[in-house]
Order: sequence, then C-alpha cells, then structure tokens
Amino acid sequence: MKTLILFSTRDGQTREIASFLASELKELGVNAEVMNLHRAGNIMWNQYDRVVIGASIRYGHFHSSLDSFVKKHVQVLNTLPSAFYTVNLVARKPEKRTPQTNSYTRKFLLNSPWQPTQCEVFAGALRYPRYRWYDRFMIRLIMKMTGGETDTNKEVVYTDWQQVSDFARQIAQLVSK
Ligand SMILES: Cc1cc2nc3c(=O)[nH]c(=O)nc-3n(C[C@H](O)[C@H](O)[C@H](O)COP(=O)(O)O)c2cc1C
Repeated sequence: MKTLILFSTRDGQTREIASFLASELKELGVNAEVMNLHRAGNIMWNQYDRVVIGASIRYGHFHSSLDSFVKKHVQVLNTLPSAFYTVNLVARKPEKRTPQTNSYTRKFLLNSPWQPTQCEVFAGALRYPRYRWYDRFMIRLIMKMTGGETDTNKEVVYTDWQQVSDFARQIAQLVSK
C-alpha cells in the first residue's frame, strides 16, 4: 500500500513540497506516490492507504480544480486517513501559519465536505523574475502593503522545510479509521 500525494500548483512550490514530503516519508519507511491533481484521471484508490492533498493560493483562491476534485472523491477522501496542506505568502508570517489563523485554510475547512485528519499551512515562495509583468506588479503592491520583500530581482523561498519534515512524521502516523 502507498500514500498518495496530490498537488495543485501554479508555479511549482506546492509540487516541491509534495516531492519533499515523499522523500521524507520514504526515509520513514512509507512508500509515497506524487501526482498532479490537475491531471489525475481515474485513480486506483485501492492501491492507497492514505491520501495527502496540497494546494496553493493565487489572488485569494485555490484553483477551482481543487473543489471539483474534492466533490468527485469526497467519499473516499473521508474514508481514508487524509492530510491537507496549503501554500501561500500570507503564511510567511508565523502567526498566519496555522489552519485557524490562515484565512484561506480556515475558510476551506469550514466549507469543505472533505474533513482531512491533519492540516498544515506552509509559507510559499516569492519569485519575482518568473512572474509576468502584471503579476509582478500586483505581488509587489501586496508585499509593499504588508511589509514584505519588494526587490523584483529577488527570489525568496519562505517554506520552512523543518515544518514540512514534521508534517511528514504526522502523516506517517495516520492510521486507518
Ligand atoms: C499571481 C500570484 C498571486 C498570488 N496571490 C496570493 C494571495 O492572494 N495570497 C497569498 O497569501 N499568496 C499569494 N500568492 C503567493 C503564492 O501562494 C506563493 O507564491 C506560492 O508559493 C505559490 O505556490 P505554487 O508555486 O505551488 O503555485 C500569489 C502568487 C502569485 C504569483
């Protein structure tokens, strides 16, 4: 049996976290498979004994595919031991990095028919040089308003990899309901 890690990403950070989780799980003796949620077709659920979903925020929202995926698979998601992680830049501030204090995550959990067993919030990455001019302009504005990095030559990864590693340990301990 394996742990399925699905990710919904725009710029790659949520995928990097998914891959890191998979390698940490491997070290803990847990076999994991990483899959792009946007390209997940028919999933052979009987191969998996745990499921993890990771999703990032853009302009205040998760990708709409997350909602449709959850709706489609809600029964199995609520049956398997499961974990959810969210990735955003608001979470670069430690006080906004818990499911209760991170508004995107709190709202998702309030409205979702899927109730994950574990949930974690990770700070994402800020990669100005890779954004299109409009996105760069908008993100810089948000950073300016919230006291963040405004140098558009910079790429900053705020993800706390120790936190991701600790999350892998929690996932490894999830047991069947
Ligand atoms: C165009 C754009 C819009 C974003 N909007 C938000 C936002 O509304 N709130 C937030 O906390 N982070 C926001 N972010 C930051 C992303 O969540 C962060 O860069 C994250 O690492 C992206 O993960 P991904 O690479 O897996 O998509 C935005 C980033 C971009 C590029």
